[in-house]
Amino acid sequence: MEDPASFQADRINRLFNHFNIAAGAMLLLVIVLTLWFVIRYRRPEGDDSEGSQNEGNRRLEILMIGVPGLLLAWFFYETFTVSAAVMPSASPQRPPDVIITGHQFWWEVDYPGKQVITANEVHLPVGRQLLMEMRSADVIHDWWVPQLGNKMDLIPGNKNYLWLTIRKAGNYVGACSEFCGAQHAWMRIRVIAQDPADFNRWLDSNATAAMPPGDDLAREGKVLFETRSCAGCHGIKGTSAIGTAGPDLTHVASRGTLLTGMLATNEQNLGDWIDHPQRIKEGAYMPAFRFPPDSVKAIAHYLAQLK
Ligand code: CUA
Repeated sequence: MEDPASFQADRINRLFNHFNIAAGAMLLLVIVLTLWFVIRYRRPEGDDSEGSQNEGNRRLEILMIGVPGLLLAWFFYETFTVSAAVMPSASPQRPPDVIITGHQFWWEVDYPGKQVITANEVHLPVGRQLLMEMRSADVIHDWWVPQLGNKMDLIPGNKNYLWLTIRKAGNYVGACSEFCGAQHAWMRIRVIAQDPADFNRWLDSNATAAMPPGDDLAREGKVLFETRSCAGCHGIKGTSAIGTAGPDLTHVASRGTLLTGMLATNEQNLGDWIDHPQRIKEGAYMPAFRFPPDSVKAIAHYLAQLK
């Protein structure tokens, strides 16, 4: 693991390095002994006699059982302590800080009690021990952001939990790590770790509805969005669109990317996606509605204002 950025990743990384050091030392010892025996006890030319048959060297036997035994005991202890530190059991009263729900093929991100729901880009504060609740809406997905530590499965009908204490602000990328269908490879994760003040500012701005559309084209797009098929699946706070099957789009234009990192968020890409989703991300649940080009333009223009 490269450059661990959370308490959990750091502990796991160190355990992994200790295993590597021990395994490397063992390998070296075996190679050295093998070479030494090959050279030192080589059969002399023309000597067909059988070598001396020794057996029973108590000191050697104790050493050969004792050293691996001690190593096993140490690693059992270390693995156990690291597991307990990385995944302590939560008290039932402790509410999760964020609920992640895996969907084919995107991530729903819900901040309970904060009226904030977003997708794919997970804003989290640094320096706090966060409890993440993991759910799935369909099949098994697997959360993994290597720099932030261990994986966690998202299992339908079940809740899993992951502790996370991020140490450094920054962007961390990850991906779904359990095959979940046609677009499994395009189920990326972006964690945006922020200082608590920045994070709270982000939370506040996302708890409110986006600015109402400024121009005629955007207003037309809003009406189309609310009255055509879009609102059946997508929600936009402050409008009559309250669908929950697809990603919430209240602040879609404030997210850097669309479709879990596939495309940059801009009017052109939004329009292309609405026009021919299956050519862009085949197997996603976004259907093509065959809107006339003007409608696509208006809806894309509206969505691009939702900062
Ligand atoms: Cu979700 Cu693979």
